[in-house]
Amino acid sequence: MNTVIGTDIKKAVELLNKGEVVAIPTETVYGLAANALSEDAVLRIYEVKQRPRFNPLILHVASLEHAREYVNNLPVEAQQLTTAFWPGSLTLLLDKKETVPDLVTAGSNRVALRVPNHPLTLQLLQQLSFPLAAPSANPSGYVSPTSAQHVYDNLHGKIPYILDGGECGVGVESTILGWNKQQQPEVYRLGGIPVEAIEEVLQQKLRIKKSITENPDAPGQLKSHYATTTPLHLHAADDLPVAFSNKKVIRINFKNYHPSLPKEQQLILSENGSLEEAAKHLFKTLRAADAMQADVLIAERLPGEGLGAAINDRLERAQFIMK
Ligand code: TXA
Ligand code: MG
Repeated sequence: MNTVIGTDIKKAVELLNKGEVVAIPTETVYGLAANALSEDAVLRIYEVKQRPRFNPLILHVASLEHAREYVNNLPVEAQQLTTAFWPGSLTLLLDKKETVPDLVTAGSNRVALRVPNHPLTLQLLQQLSFPLAAPSANPSGYVSPTSAQHVYDNLHGKIPYILDGGECGVGVESTILGWNKQQQPEVYRLGGIPVEAIEEVLQQKLRIKKSITENPDAPGQLKSHYATTTPLHLHAADDLPVAFSNKKVIRINFKNYHPSLPKEQQLILSENGSLEEAAKHLFKTLRAADAMQADVLIAERLPGEGLGAAINDRLERAQFIMK
């Protein structure tokens, strides 16, 4: 199959109407999208991504009104959050209506929903009569894509079209939040909307459930994600382990070069120390580091506040399984 990169929304609409899978830009990462109401179309997503079927997909809709069509009720707190953050990088887990295929939610009675904040994809959604199911457009387990070229590098030949919306502005996936049986909000994945910002809207401290080994509420968190092919180790800011002294090391730094390593072996996430910029550059930097044929990647742990928490979470997952 020939994979085309372009900005033709009409072409994307035509393919999606036919049940094809199309890569779409969002402000977080690129998604691998198909008609969420068609089991056949959704099956193709799982196939292209080589994703296990027990890992459910996020539904992308054009507006809150469209989201309402797929949920039984919208708690008051959910309304406060959508007012504050939609369109944007917050995914909510809500009670699903029967119209949402079980394949999309992997049998769960909760569906994940968000309105992405990207002009091209919002236009696209407005021209469709169905929501788009879309996981990140990387092969299962690899680093997420933040440009059309990343998608092409990983999936060319497997999908007909990549809608090119430029480089993603946020750069890490959406934050996922749901309510437990006691109706308390819980965060299942750290992401593009910092927990502090959500806590401010809800006027309460949030529970964060993001255990790598066991989290039945977000099945996708069960195994290693975002992993580079070159083994990656996460270290404190000034640390340069001697154990790697005879290996080719590439170091991924927040804002400063490490004094004991040649600059050619180092990458910087944000020269002026902005966590937003670091998030935006994270995945392309991991991909660049991976292409440098090193023996080992050493990433610096970032400050844990704001988007730093989501960045550290991705780096932890990247090193979870050593290859
Ligand atoms: O920013 C994002 O969220 C991107 C863009 C494309 O929107 N999408 C994304 O999708 O990151 P994905 O499939 O790579 O990650 C979605 C996560 C998975 O961990 C999945 O298990 C969880 O959301 N999830 C989806 N539906 C769920 C549901 N019904 N219940 C629990 N977890 C769900
Ligand atoms: Mg993903």
